[in-house]
Amino acid sequence: MSKKTIRDVDLKGKKVLVRVDFNVPMKDGKITDENRIVQALPTINYALENGAKLILLSHLGRIKEEADKEKNSLRVVATRLGELLGKEVIFVPETRGEKVEQAISNMKDGDVVMLENTRFEDLNNKAESKNNPELGKYWASLGELFVNDAFGTAHRAHASNVGISANIETAVAGFLMEKEIKFIGGAVDNPARPFVAILGGAKVSDKISVIGNLLTKADKILICGAMAYTFYKALGHEVGTSLCEEDYVDFAKGLLDKAQGKIVLPVDVVVTREFAADAESEVVAIDGIGKDQMGLDIGPRTIDQFKKELEGAKTVVWNGPAGVFEFPKFAVGTNAICTILAELEDATTIIGGGDSAAAANQLGFSDKFTHISTGGGASLEYLEGKELPGVAAINDK
Ligand code: 3PG
Repeated sequence: MSKKTIRDVDLKGKKVLVRVDFNVPMKDGKITDENRIVQALPTINYALENGAKLILLSHLGRIKEEADKEKNSLRVVATRLGELLGKEVIFVPETRGEKVEQAISNMKDGDVVMLENTRFEDLNNKAESKNNPELGKYWASLGELFVNDAFGTAHRAHASNVGISANIETAVAGFLMEKEIKFIGGAVDNPARPFVAILGGAKVSDKISVIGNLLTKADKILICGAMAYTFYKALGHEVGTSLCEEDYVDFAKGLLDKAQGKIVLPVDVVVTREFAADAESEVVAIDGIGKDQMGLDIGPRTIDQFKKELEGAKTVVWNGPAGVFEFPKFAVGTNAICTILAELEDATTIIGGGDSAAAANQLGFSDKFTHISTGGGASLEYLEGKELPGVAAINDK
């Protein structure tokens, strides 16, 4: 990797600022998926074993008004992190000021301090999200070096990642950041071939740039999820009441022309007459969708077709579920893709973040892939071929 990492610096006795992405999903004040916390542990443990004083910064949710603060406090995350580390995480319910400075000056080697949600600063003219230079400088002044392990936030140029990097001499990548760059960056820049991409999810419009970039890199692109219906429409098929982006039908047509057979569409789909977990369903060929029917999953012939296309693949990147996996009845296609990828031999299998990562984890495949990205927007932008500001701001080797 061309960026410096935590291995390249001496941490002993240093006040080390670590930007993590602890923007975890919460319900009724409880963390519903702690994967992002777990994925940050290697960096945190390494820094502690090497005698650092660790100061953790993260955002959680979006803070637009005072009322958003309560449900987006990082206190619950600090408690959970303490349990996972088996040591106290000193939570400071402030983002700047005397309490923060005092807590840091009291630290001993191996202590962990976590500041309150960096986006609480957004109530101050969006200081965090607009990368207010004074804020980045202030946070940088609290430490002696900076470790950026927040890949999930790397597509944002905020004060707590890019701002700190700009105001401190040493800004290096943590292990999670390194792993994400290695796998996602590696797949896009220098994939072992054949390289197959699987793109699903609801909207073509969300994935335009990804499809465009991957058309130049991948050997095959398998399309699934609701996104497929916009392509069917482009081919002149009836899509019934399925999700379809009329504004993107021409674009989809253009892509199919340009792709010269590289794009593979499902041959059959599971359709229903209502959007419900227990809706009655049937499997139809793609030219057999009724006017009152909507597609909620890929069909069995498509699963076989995808299996064949994936045979012998050496690199696979998957972003976006194949169907409405939240309803078990329509999770069959997504589950089958998980199984096919888990059984591929000698292949690097990478799951983009967001829904497909949630699906893979929820369906019990968390440890069956080479890499499941912790970044939703960040992994998409990386797959689009964009430079991520959070990554760019890390020191080069
Ligand atoms: C994410 O969950 O994608 C990151 O934490 C970034 O969050 P954001 O979309 O609120 O900036």
